[in-house]
Formats: sequence, C-alpha cells, structure tokens
Amino acid sequence: MTQQMKRPIIITGFMGSGKTKVAWELARRLNLEIVDLDNWIEDREGRSAAQIIIENGERAFRSIESKALRTLLETNAADIIALGGGAWIEETNREVIDQYGCTTVWLDAPFEMCWTRIEASAEERPLGKTREQALELYERRRPIYQLASIHIQIVNETLEDLISRILTELRPQIFTDEH
Ligand code: S3P
Repeated sequence: MTQQMKRPIIITGFMGSGKTKVAWELARRLNLEIVDLDNWIEDREGRSAAQIIIENGERAFRSIESKALRTLLETNAADIIALGGGAWIEETNREVIDQYGCTTVWLDAPFEMCWTRIEASAEERPLGKTREQALELYERRRPIYQLASIHIQIVNETLEDLISRILTELRPQIFTDEH
C-alpha cells in the first residue's frame, strides 16, 4: 500500500509565526516539494517582498503575490507552499486555494512571539514597523486566519514536537491510501 498526496498544503499565519521553518521541516519529513512564496517572488522579481512594498506600495505587492500563488498552483509546482503573512488575507487568494482543494494550516503563534521575531528583522517587514501597527494587524487578521482548515496553536515546544502535532492533524487530510 502506498500513500498518495491528495492536494497541496498551504502554511499560513502572521509574520514571525514560523511558516517558512515549519514548511521546510514538513517537506523534509514527508519528502515533499516546498516553495516559500516570498522567496519565489524574490527570485523572479529580483527584489524582496519588503523592497516591492517600500518602492511600489502594498497593493502592487499583493497583485504580484496573487499572480505568483496562482502560477504555483496552476503549474503544480509544489506540494507545500509557505505563504507570506498577508497572502491568506486576500479573498481572491483564498478562493484560488480553495479551487485547488488545498489543505490549509494556520500557525497561530502568540503575538509576543511574533513581535520578538518581527523586531529582530525590522527591515524585512515594512508592514510591522511598530508594535502598535503589528498588534493592530495581528488582531484584525485573526478572524481570517481562523478560516484555515487546520488550526495549530503554537506553544513553547521543540520544532520536532510541533511538527509531530501538525502531522497528526495533517495526515488524515492529505493522504489517500492506494492499494
Ligand atoms: C507580509 C508578510 C511578509 C511578506 C510581506 C507582507 C504581511 O512575509 O510577505 O512583507 O502582510 O504580513 P512573512 O509573513 O514571511 O514575514
């Protein structure tokens, strides 16, 4: 009996919630292809998400981000996609994710955990410049992240324990048994 992937896995959550790290570790454990959406955009645009936002504004970045996500799904380029923190917030992106039958995982990290990481990489995250701005965004986005199919509350634990917890939730949703 072999296990077949049914559909791509999407990792979402606020800036600093650990999406990229978790996605890479899941990919390693499951032997799957992973794409980090922001990195993919940076490779193609020759500029980081932060640079695009600073130079052309958030709307311009969102448009590039939506096209990139659609392309990745259309071309079946990855089994796991780590989104940037705002990608899931756009309704058109959630629609295309739904259209491709993806399983979505929300990494729900406490604000202080996210903020510590945002603060440490301030120039990479122009939408979280101050604590107040980041907190307002965090609160505003929570109900939308909540729409993801799997909710993982992040606590202080090892990466290994976190991945085990995610796999327990994910496995029944992403694999079909082929006889
Ligand atoms: C953003 C999050 C960033 C990046 C861009 C916008 C956001 O990705 O896509 O700066 O709107 O939350 P990370 O979540 O990886 O920091």
